[in-house]
Amino acid sequence: MRRTLTLTLALALVLPTGAAQAAAPDTLRAAARGAGIRIGTAVDMSALDSDARYRDLVGAEFSTVTAENVMKWETLEPTRGVHNYGPADELVQFARQHDQKLRGHVLVWHSQNPAWLTGGDYSPAELRQILREHIVDTVTHFKGKVWHWDVVNEIFNDDGTWRDTIWYRNLGPGFVADAFRWAHRADPAAKLYLNDYNNEGLSPKSDAYYALVQQLKAEGVPVQGYGVQGHLATQYGVPQTTLENLRRFERLGLDTAFTEVDVRIPLPADSAEVQAQAQGFTTLMQACLLAQRCVSYTLWGFTDRYNWVPGVFDGQGEATPLTADFERKPAYRSIRDTLRLG
Ligand code: XIL
Repeated sequence: MRRTLTLTLALALVLPTGAAQAAAPDTLRAAARGAGIRIGTAVDMSALDSDARYRDLVGAEFSTVTAENVMKWETLEPTRGVHNYGPADELVQFARQHDQKLRGHVLVWHSQNPAWLTGGDYSPAELRQILREHIVDTVTHFKGKVWHWDVVNEIFNDDGTWRDTIWYRNLGPGFVADAFRWAHRADPAAKLYLNDYNNEGLSPKSDAYYALVQQLKAEGVPVQGYGVQGHLATQYGVPQTTLENLRRFERLGLDTAFTEVDVRIPLPADSAEVQAQAQGFTTLMQACLLAQRCVSYTLWGFTDRYNWVPGVFDGQGEATPLTADFERKPAYRSIRDTLRLG
């Protein structure tokens, strides 16, 4: 649909990049434009406000942005009925100024919800009403400004069973269809995505998504995208069946996207791990370019200066394509060169 990719990608990888690119800026953004996809990053709003170098790179290197945190429920509605759209609106404005698309992240999740919600004592009927209001208010506020919405995030366990969350526990699996319908009614133009990690390749988890999409489609539920976060780690290797998995979702009529790619390394990183990291980013990019309907590839942060990994994964880090000093690593060059061939 998007484009036809020549089968020479693998061969072409060994060739030097052509003079045709010489005039374009040396950025991921320019390379992605040529490949017919969008390249994105999660944005840390406090870094965007305080660090001019970071801000310049977000504008120059990327054609789509995602709020790393400020479109999550705990930020948007810290007190029940009191909305805090300011930081997200700032990102909307930045994206418009830089001709970037915005991925909306996230409407329904089990994490980073406000305390009034998770600590409240609500009946299932009340919770359903609260969720409906949250989705309608949020999607309506950003109507016309969001390209993709991550409607539901991380709803399955790795073994393909439903994750035990406030939503599943109280509402059963029907919350998913409800969420997509409410979101679609509020902004019919936004593309609505499922999103998860460890769902790159064929696995019990991606099988659960496949069955769910078949069911949603049969019921006429407006689901349009399969989001693959792509949080990899050098010690676990690269998923092997990613392209095959993307293709089966595309055959169901969905677009696909890599939504949160990073490749963390046990510290200290040695040069083999730095190479393995580049390989991880590149393998996912190749799958995106070889798929028919993979529309974007978003990094979950682009510099080690501002990155969530060290705070969450003990002893791991350096998960992005730029160092803490904004120097390009092998991963950066490898992503860029793969895009140039796409
Ligand atoms: C992470 C952010 O990067 C952190 O800053 C925050 O403290 C926790 O959440 N999957 C997701 C993202 O869908 O929203 C998470 O983002 C990373 C894992």
